[in-house]
Amino acid sequence: MFHDLKIREIRNETADAVAIGFDVPDDLAATFEFQPGQHLTLRATVDGQDVRRSYSIACERGAALTVGVKQIEDGVFSTFAQSLNPGATLSVMPPEGRFVCNDQSNIVLIAAGSGITPMIAIASDALARGGNVTLVYGNRKTDSIMFRETLDALKDRYLNRFTLIHILSRETQDVALLNGRVTGDKVISLANAGAIDLETTDGVFLCGPGEMIEDVTQTLTDRGTDPALIHSERFYQDGETQRAPSAAALATAANGVSVTVVLDGTTRTVQVEADDNTVLDAAARQGLELPFSCKGGMCCTCRCKVAQGTAEMATNYSLENWELEAGFTLACQTRPTSDDLVLDFDAA
Ligand code: FES
Repeated sequence: MFHDLKIREIRNETADAVAIGFDVPDDLAATFEFQPGQHLTLRATVDGQDVRRSYSIACERGAALTVGVKQIEDGVFSTFAQSLNPGATLSVMPPEGRFVCNDQSNIVLIAAGSGITPMIAIASDALARGGNVTLVYGNRKTDSIMFRETLDALKDRYLNRFTLIHILSRETQDVALLNGRVTGDKVISLANAGAIDLETTDGVFLCGPGEMIEDVTQTLTDRGTDPALIHSERFYQDGETQRAPSAAALATAANGVSVTVVLDGTTRTVQVEADDNTVLDAAARQGLELPFSCKGGMCCTCRCKVAQGTAEMATNYSLENWELEAGFTLACQTRPTSDDLVLDFDAA
């Protein structure tokens, strides 16, 4: 599942963010082909711990495979990443993720902070296909803008089809509308001012803090944008917390419960005890490696299907309604609520 890739380049994007470019050998080229908006999961052993994090691919198709990593306070992987050098190798999972833009061509992209990373690939691809792209990008100051040179180069290349709008919260710009944070009201004001065309867009893509995503999504849908046109990806947790276990989950785990797991055609049993927060945690404690990346309910790497029994999730930021209705769950968030739970990782 993971492949060792050599780091070709490390580029400082801001004081606390780097772009990491990888060499992909010819025999893995097809494996690492990506759809704009997908992410890579990087894996490293840091202080003896297996650490995995997902980072969006931030390059155009055909360019050196690149991700952007912003340092998070006390972030184990992001701190480790700042110390990497060209020539080193990292374990990298092939591209994944359903936050993708494949054929929409009149698109509005709304990002904040490191939420810009998938937008680089999405914007480059849509522009290369002849589309029109408007990007609203929120940051604190000019010097915290990631991929600034890349965005400027796109602007130079596609002057008439790429509209780039920087919103800054801690630096005053001449146009008052460009100051502050990216909110639903700000987006509507930009539309009213003619800077964004929400009427003809065939896709609105949001990436950043959950608070921004929820606010903009709610505002746009209230205003009449078809929810099916709005796509979003949360990139970090914003201090959002997991729900406490329900009474049913507590009662089920109180005396321990055996969960059956089907993975790669093999059936195993995971014993979930009262102290285990989720099935994924219980499996790790017992040395069973289930697929995972973010462990925060965001990446879907741990998606599986409840084939039997019942379960609840502590949180969910990535499964869509149809998946919930079809019985899918996120193992990193799953708590059994019945004693006959079967989780099938092989279910499509
Ligand atoms: S590991 Fe990312 S959603 Fe579960």
